[in-house]
Amino acid sequence: MRKPIIGGNWKMNRGTPKESKEMLIDFVPLIKNVINVEVVIAPPFTGLISAYEIIKDTNVKLGAQNMYYEEKGAFTGEISPQFLKEIGVEYIILGHSERRNIFNESDVIVNKKLKKALMIGLKPIVCIGEHLEERETGRTKDVIENQMMGSFKDLTRDQMIQTVIAYEPIWAIGTGKTATPEQAEEIHMFIRELISQKYNQETADSVRIQYGGSIKPQNAEILFSKENIDGGLVGGASLQSESLAEIVQAAEKSIQ
Ligand code: 13P
Repeated sequence: MRKPIIGGNWKMNRGTPKESKEMLIDFVPLIKNVINVEVVIAPPFTGLISAYEIIKDTNVKLGAQNMYYEEKGAFTGEISPQFLKEIGVEYIILGHSERRNIFNESDVIVNKKLKKALMIGLKPIVCIGEHLEERETGRTKDVIENQMMGSFKDLTRDQMIQTVIAYEPIWAIGTGKTATPEQAEEIHMFIRELISQKYNQETADSVRIQYGGSIKPQNAEILFSKENIDGGLVGGASLQSESLAEIVQAAEKSIQ
């Protein structure tokens, strides 16, 4: 049985120490009874330490939005996965479409980061997803297959099982245009088939696949009710404690 995972990706929208603390002081009590869903909050780097102070003895885990694939050295402006681990970061979002598209992160880079994260003991959430034009021209599955081959290259079966995948169709991110549950489920099934072909069915059945793209309290429950959708990666709706808590509750309901 896969445990659903809800991630709150604050992007660069909220991230001072004060802002991070305030949101989490509100949020933590709202979900304190949740036991069947893993909850991860990913503030910008500047909010991580103060966020950790609030969540360290709770059921909320800390995530970061990016890292470099080296541990130390002359890499001005980059952040070491080891530094993140030492301040309480447990999850790491990798290959978000904003990193791929705005900062030119390729599958090769995502793959290097992924392997390093696994080596250091950070739990990766790797994002994949197609552009609108790729969907409209019937290329969604090709794009997903290529990203899977590139980003997950040379992963052992054990490493694959430790990795969370976030399917985030780019046209659904921040647009208010959510994929229908059927559209999302089709791609989640396809991703699981690819894992099964590369490893085996047991591995495919173990990997958690989140959906991301305009998740709101109003559409969360129906998305999470799909067999292959194991929670979500939430952007805009993760900035408010009430809406994020409602989404977590929807995930908790989906497995009852
Ligand atoms: P929105 O929920 O704002 O569409 O963002 C989704 C996302 O990119 C999460 O990583």
